[in-house]
Amino acid sequence: MTIESTLFMRAARHRPVERTPVWFMRQAGRVLPEYRAVREKHTLLEICRLPEVCTEVTLQPVRRFGTDAAILFADIMHPLVGAGVPLDIVDGVGPVIETPIRTPKDIDILRPLVPEVDLPYVLTTIKMLKAELGDRTPLIGFAGAPFTLAAYLIEGKASREFLRTKTMMYSAPEAWHELMTRLTDMVIVFMRAQRAAGVDALQLFDSWVGALSRNDYVRYVQPYARRIFTELTPLGAPLIHFGVNTATLLDAMTTDGASIIGADWRIPLDRAWDLIGHDKGIQGNLDPAVLLGPKHVIEREVSDVLDRAGERPGHIFNLGHGLLPNIPVAAIEHVLATVHARTHALADSAASLATAGGR
Ligand code: CP3
Repeated sequence: MTIESTLFMRAARHRPVERTPVWFMRQAGRVLPEYRAVREKHTLLEICRLPEVCTEVTLQPVRRFGTDAAILFADIMHPLVGAGVPLDIVDGVGPVIETPIRTPKDIDILRPLVPEVDLPYVLTTIKMLKAELGDRTPLIGFAGAPFTLAAYLIEGKASREFLRTKTMMYSAPEAWHELMTRLTDMVIVFMRAQRAAGVDALQLFDSWVGALSRNDYVRYVQPYARRIFTELTPLGAPLIHFGVNTATLLDAMTTDGASIIGADWRIPLDRAWDLIGHDKGIQGNLDPAVLLGPKHVIEREVSDVLDRAGERPGHIFNLGHGLLPNIPVAAIEHVLATVHARTHALADSAASLATAGGR
């Protein structure tokens, strides 16, 4: 067994699999009682700074659910702390920036990130995780995308309309370019350091990009996404590009250079894959809210996603966005059981060949 022969890596490399690999965005977190117990003792950012604790929290969902990938426990805002931005992650709110960026000179707070100096514990955690996971379970590293990070820095916290962000984009294009360039540099060095420390795949989270028109995506965001994927491609790791509310952006995002595009639940998976192109992989796209429903609805909706993927190579099962904190553990187990129950024709034909004595 090598890491490349795992279901996740084979699907990520567009190779056939005997069943669809599955992991969940936000699989480490408040859905798990064992995570809540750790959070009683440490804040989220403390967990990130303590390699033993961070390793433990990353492994919790892998142990409990047997997910086909682990995702490094951290937050998209974490490298910004390393780059000099004072911020907090507030329960029930999310990231809150102490002094939001409102003028071009505010951008100077962001200094270049040197991961080995600014975030050494993240790299230690990755090494500890690789030692624990061995060749059985791939480890996904990640970063927040420049647009989503810029939106938090400018708005100060999550926003519905992103009006301050758009105002800077339209009215101060040079400042926008400077901010996006610094964030792009930060993302690239951070992802490179994660890969050097041992992660097997990399995901870029552009959670809020769906707030943009297609034209604005192409003009104000795409050049930076393209630079990130161009610079990361030589690392040889599968690259996943994820956003929410992106049905109108998928055909643009797919030209940015990632090998797998994440889709949210608002668009049926087969339509999303048509837009992405079948030469690329797709990750998704069950509505997380379905996990709040009864078992038969979970089965119906999981099956719908799998039917739409149609056993084509390159599908990684996930939610269309992260697990919600009030989702019951039993519902997650039911999703997994439903995915696990569906083997692909590849496995069936291998099995029938074996019973027929053929080789
Ligand atoms: O298991 C995993 O997915 C790995 C860990 C992870 C966290 N955040 C830990 C976390 C990952 C990949 C993230 C990414 C992240 N963080 C994104 C991109 C993905 C997405 O969900 O859109 C974004 C936008 C953030 C910013 C953020 N951090 C938000 C919106 C929140 C939720 C606030 C709340 O209380 O509901 C956080 C906090 C956070 N990050 C939690 C976790 C487990 C929950 C709160 C906690 O445990 O303190």
